[in-house]
Amino acid sequence: MFGWLQRPVLISEKLEGREFEPAHADYYTGKPKQPLQLILQARSDLLSVWRATDFYEKVSSIRVLGRQIVVVNSPEHIRYVVSKRHDNYERKSPQMRRALEYLLGDGLFISDKETWKQRRPLVSDIVHKNRVPAFAPIMTSTSQELVQRWVSLGDGAEVNVLYEMAGLTAEIISRSVFGNDLGQDSANSVIEGFSRYQSLIDSVNLGYFLGLDDGLPVWRTPRLRNSVKRIHRVIDQVVEDHLAGHGDQNSMVELLVRRQKRNPELGLDVVALRNEAATIFMAGHETTASTLTWAWYLLSKAPWVEDALHAEIDEVCGNAAPTLSDVPHLNWCRSIIEETLRLYPPVPILARQALAADEIGGVKVDPAALVMIVPWLLHRTETLFPNPHHFKPERFLGDERPIPYSYIPFAAGPRTCPGLQFGLVEAILCLATLAQNFKLRLRENHKVEPQCRLTLRPRAGLPVTLHRRHKGPV
Ligand code: HEM
Repeated sequence: MFGWLQRPVLISEKLEGREFEPAHADYYTGKPKQPLQLILQARSDLLSVWRATDFYEKVSSIRVLGRQIVVVNSPEHIRYVVSKRHDNYERKSPQMRRALEYLLGDGLFISDKETWKQRRPLVSDIVHKNRVPAFAPIMTSTSQELVQRWVSLGDGAEVNVLYEMAGLTAEIISRSVFGNDLGQDSANSVIEGFSRYQSLIDSVNLGYFLGLDDGLPVWRTPRLRNSVKRIHRVIDQVVEDHLAGHGDQNSMVELLVRRQKRNPELGLDVVALRNEAATIFMAGHETTASTLTWAWYLLSKAPWVEDALHAEIDEVCGNAAPTLSDVPHLNWCRSIIEETLRLYPPVPILARQALAADEIGGVKVDPAALVMIVPWLLHRTETLFPNPHHFKPERFLGDERPIPYSYIPFAAGPRTCPGLQFGLVEAILCLATLAQNFKLRLRENHKVEPQCRLTLRPRAGLPVTLHRRHKGPV
């Protein structure tokens, strides 16, 4: 899949036998829970409901308050769900649809049927890998700005790298989607609005478990309404500016507007354009921030990998700032990102709602059942990844690739992430630029616990100290 990025192994022999096992690898080994307990637990953290026996290749089914949940954890059956029977499982779960509909409307991430069919090619084209060269300079310049800011904090300064990475990727996606003319106040409004929205919505829809196939709409509290209003106000203005011929000509909104002007039959009005712009912003920001945050965590625990990364950056880039043309040569960097995406997939649960009755791997599926593919389990299944809890970027250094449908941080099948190359290149460039200049050290005794809301993040953040390296232009 990432063939264009592959190059020969550089320094792997140094690393033999040195594997870091995350402290929380055996965190979820609790006893079976009562249905109500499960729902309550899942509301605070969707990952804490798994037990050690779930980390196997299998298809299993449980009932929670009469509702069937099917967990599909084998490549063969994942292929069946996401590709072969995409028609029966294309629909997102009521949880996901209800949680995001207020903010994203009929945006691609949660749409299905005709709307999804019509919009998918449009959005895919806008975030496609062919467009990455146009946006890569934004990735490099924004990372360099962060280097400058970190330098100004002084050696040994402490930051919460979860927020630092969220700020960095939000800035990159904001400049890419809305253009450079947005202005800092409006950009902050959108960035804070999204973050507030995510913290306010529930990840479990009780209405669905109580018998409503489409679940219940989220409770629109004044705080939620306020955050949505702030976001919509800014994006509507950007869209209207572009429709009127103003606005940054290189932005993704401009590409959307141009497409609509060329193909008026698409019928994308201001609201539809806003929904797709907001979707790209949301889908492209949290995921990359989560990847980078977990990469810093793993690197701070595996100094031998960090040494290999630094050696590679110094060899490939010297004192120059990393750019897109360096990416195919940054093999360690890419492998560290790929291994991070295996251990900490930013979207650790892909949840679908079955349209009609079916059977998956011998398990009968009810209409409207919740069908879950859980990269968090899949990527840590021993038969697919030996020593599955160990951090070993070397797995991804050679030509060998994981077997199809066993490694799916970007999902798979027709709903695969269209921003895959954008996200990968962005993560590689940000990591290379920051690691060229800094080492990050985790605050001692800080407890790191993965928590899943919409994306996977360390529950109490990731406080680190910043230590200047010798190299790199600032
Ligand atoms: C490391 C970074 C990223 C990861 C791990 C990631 C992962 C994913 C996953 C797993 C899905 C499917 C979710 C599901 O089916 O429930 C998805 C969908 C999507 N992603 Fe990404 N993503 C990343 C970056 C990006 C970027 C940078 C963009 C845009 C610039 C983007 C745009 C989208 C869109 C629009 C969808 C919806 C596609 C559809 O439903 O047809 N993603 N992403």
